[in-house]
Amino acid sequence: MHPISSLDAHPVLVHPRNYRHIEVQPLTGVLGAEIFGIDLRHELSLEVWEEIRDAFVDHQVIMFPKQTPTHEQHLTFARGFGQVIQLPQLPSIEGHPDIQMIRRLASDTGRVIGENWHADSTYLDEPPLAVVMRAVDVPTYGGDTGFLSMYAAYEALSPAFKELIAPLNMVHSATRIFGSAYLSQSRRYNASGVRSDVNVELGDREMVHPLVCTHEVSGRKFLYLNKTYTQRIEGFTNEESAPFLTFLYEHCARFDFTCRARWKKDQVLVWDNRCTMHRAIPDYTGQDRLMTRVTIAGKRPKR
Ligand code: SIN
Repeated sequence: MHPISSLDAHPVLVHPRNYRHIEVQPLTGVLGAEIFGIDLRHELSLEVWEEIRDAFVDHQVIMFPKQTPTHEQHLTFARGFGQVIQLPQLPSIEGHPDIQMIRRLASDTGRVIGENWHADSTYLDEPPLAVVMRAVDVPTYGGDTGFLSMYAAYEALSPAFKELIAPLNMVHSATRIFGSAYLSQSRRYNASGVRSDVNVELGDREMVHPLVCTHEVSGRKFLYLNKTYTQRIEGFTNEESAPFLTFLYEHCARFDFTCRARWKKDQVLVWDNRCTMHRAIPDYTGQDRLMTRVTIAGKRPKR
């Protein structure tokens, strides 16, 4: 029987595998897991890497508490997920261009980077596969990151709605982040958080991706849209797109599709940027927060 309300439909839960080299503690049945038993300062064996990649694909967001890698070791670990790239809007650590920062100073009052649910840089033709982020300086309270599973969001839709949206493509751009839409409004990022030399034309460039994509490793389908970069449904006007987008954003943010990373200093977290969204929770005004992050190259999302 088809659900009568989308709240009656539930996502497919992740069942933990048997691991031999690492300990995996799921955070929720939908996404997120903590991983114990490894030290990121040391080279990891092929067997350990195989299990880390399994946990990454199954849980989509994996956290490694109490890790103190150097910048070089952070990069080495990140390279285990793929090729490293830089995002144009984020500043880098001095001497390490591939290690970028999410930085907010206690004195900053502007817009918080990543405060809406989003996946990183979906305006690119090949958006990132993953991000490997390390908590360097965390507020005494607040500053968590929310994550949600776009598999779960897709799987909880009715068969009829899935069929309706299957052929749709979405238009993405970074215009509201560093393009002309950003420049035409007054809510700005603080200079400590973003680069001032970003290319407005790159910000305004439009890119089309399918609304329903298939994960290249798991083979599961997921929704691919977000409030930060998605502009409209391809071929629809903004007005025609709006009710669909409003429904989908509300549906994706359903509490039971989410988990919350409560950052502790020296926690390293890897998120799968294809099938999740994340959101920086802006509740730590007056405190410093610094994350260092390495972005992993992805492929063009496919149906
Ligand atoms: C981001 O959106 O990349 C930042 C997430 C965070 O600061 O928690």
